[in-house]
Amino acid sequence: MDWGLQNRLARIIKPATGRTVMLAVDHGYFLGPTSKLENPRATIAPLLSYADALMPTRGVLRTSVDPGTQTPIVLRVSGGTSIIGPSLADEEITTTFEEAIRLNVSAVALSIFVGTDYEHQTLMNLADLVNEGETYGIPVLAVTAVGKELGKRDARFLSLSCRIAAELGAHFVKTYYCEDFEKVVEGCPVPVVIAGGPKLDTMRDVFQLTHDALSRGAVGVDMGRNIWQSDYPVAAIRGVRAIVHEKYTVKKALDLFNELKAKKK
Ligand code: R5P
Repeated sequence: MDWGLQNRLARIIKPATGRTVMLAVDHGYFLGPTSKLENPRATIAPLLSYADALMPTRGVLRTSVDPGTQTPIVLRVSGGTSIIGPSLADEEITTTFEEAIRLNVSAVALSIFVGTDYEHQTLMNLADLVNEGETYGIPVLAVTAVGKELGKRDARFLSLSCRIAAELGAHFVKTYYCEDFEKVVEGCPVPVVIAGGPKLDTMRDVFQLTHDALSRGAVGVDMGRNIWQSDYPVAAIRGVRAIVHEKYTVKKALDLFNELKAKKK
């Protein structure tokens, strides 16, 4: 890996712990004004300093993120579909590499849709991005997307998707946590982060998910709804951070969450 690429990746996956807490705020690119992300600036501002990296689209980056931020940006560069359209998988690259460089991003991210009618198209999107990423020293994050088919989130499917992403040159991969998650990590020769998925019932569930994923080999999270849809988003991200970077147990993270929640009242 070239120096520039390694250096950008090290801004995201912190060398001190080898781990990362990424904050995903790109949901609007196909979901529109998602609950609690209707006003992206208001959602992002209090959380930004607790995130090791922020994952927005260029539209939200330009309109809703302070350019003075020191938080690295992982720019979502695929899209072109909507939740009410015929297929979420029919994505193309929406943002040029020149634009990504102009925006001073630390990485670019796209979704791949393995096993769909758009498998070839989205995998070639990845291959093209990696070619450009290697040219300019910008890492590529592949998201193993499942669209509306949440039931596809099992080790067999996710291992296949993550491995293909790594084989095509993705520098890190974002996937879902699942039973036998260690098999997904073992078969993927690049770092793996997990998405949080739809909002879970309790913060204990969120912390358990984080803890389990980390103990089975993930290097961190790229989490959205389970942080900013919480009634206490700062307490939520600080609890997740404590598990990721300070090896907190679920109980200790919950204690921290409750302490911060009480102070907020
Ligand atoms: C989905 O494709 C988006 O990339 C989201 O960023 C991703 O799902 C992570 O967010 P969440 O933790 O809300 O699932």
